[in-house]
Amino acid sequence: MKALILSGGHGTRLRPLTYSQQKQLIPVANKPVLFYAIEDVIEAGIRDIGIIVGPNKEQVIETVRSVDWDADIEFIYQGDPLGLAHAILVAEEFLDDEEFVMYLGDNILRDGIIEHAQKFKELNPDSLILLTQVDEPQRFGVAEFDENGRVKRLIEKPKVPPSNYALVGVYFFKPIIIEACKNIKPSWRNELEITDAIQWLIDNGYRVETSIVTGWWKDTGKPEDILEANRLVLDDIEPKNEGKLENSRIIGRVIIEEGAMIRDSVVKGPCVIGKNSQVVNAYIGPYTSIGNNCVIEGTEIEDSVIMDGSVIINAGRIVESLIGRNVKIIEANSKPKGCRFVVGDNSNIVL
Ligand code: G1P
Repeated sequence: MKALILSGGHGTRLRPLTYSQQKQLIPVANKPVLFYAIEDVIEAGIRDIGIIVGPNKEQVIETVRSVDWDADIEFIYQGDPLGLAHAILVAEEFLDDEEFVMYLGDNILRDGIIEHAQKFKELNPDSLILLTQVDEPQRFGVAEFDENGRVKRLIEKPKVPPSNYALVGVYFFKPIIIEACKNIKPSWRNELEITDAIQWLIDNGYRVETSIVTGWWKDTGKPEDILEANRLVLDDIEPKNEGKLENSRIIGRVIIEEGAMIRDSVVKGPCVIGKNSQVVNAYIGPYTSIGNNCVIEGTEIEDSVIMDGSVIINAGRIVESLIGRNVKIIEANSKPKGCRFVVGDNSNIVL
């Protein structure tokens, strides 16, 4: 079996971060979201991986290649992000008439995909889709069932959802899906929707089975989703200390990576402090990920993701925040006193 992992798209709901970063590279517990998908696929025994790349393809390729994966990884360029079914058509040559799993690179599943891959093998359907119960089904593709509990309809982002079972971004397919993708028309958002392609399978008498995801699942489409995914992943970390501690208190499960220095501070897990970062006279509270090469001084940070190279000095108390790379938030020490901003388009500041 092959795997097709999607790492394209504009990530408009994650601006301004996605002006400079491909959304699947945004870190959750200091690891790009995309890496969780690659790890899950390899864990399920798949060694032949195609990654669909889009606007920031160089970034994605470079980041993926920085790790020595136990798999053959090929990159496939999708010129315009015209939908998930379009991505399959772009990958037709790579897929080479074999069955495959398609995994959206901005999705994270707590328990991986092994169980579902086995179910696909056992039941041998034309497609196995993963479903899970959600609070806001209108944000996703939603399944409607018949009286025997079989899926009869899939609707993309319905205003009035027929159930609260959302389509998780992991799909198993036989090669017939390619014909389905060729037979559908673009939706109102001008995308070839994967839900429509699966509906085509159902309508044409092909067998579509379902598998329910019981552990947590997160689609990291919006800023609050990244923070939530960060909490969920941090909840499962094993503590480790490869850094240096001086006159500091570590409470709970904390990962301190190589070269990090914690001085005169309190760090309360679960949280992770990245490589070569310095935490001085600060409080780092639960559910915080501090990236690599950051400086946090005289500041309290809780429930936040701070990305690589950011410097935060005497900035008061920061909560529920997503801070990009190489950001500086520093107390003013010259007159006139007051906040000075150089903030990119679509930033969001709550004082
Ligand atoms: C896509 C699919 C949707 C699915 C979701 C899961 O939505 O179209 O059916 O529920 O992924 O992450 P999108 O992220 O393109 O809005």
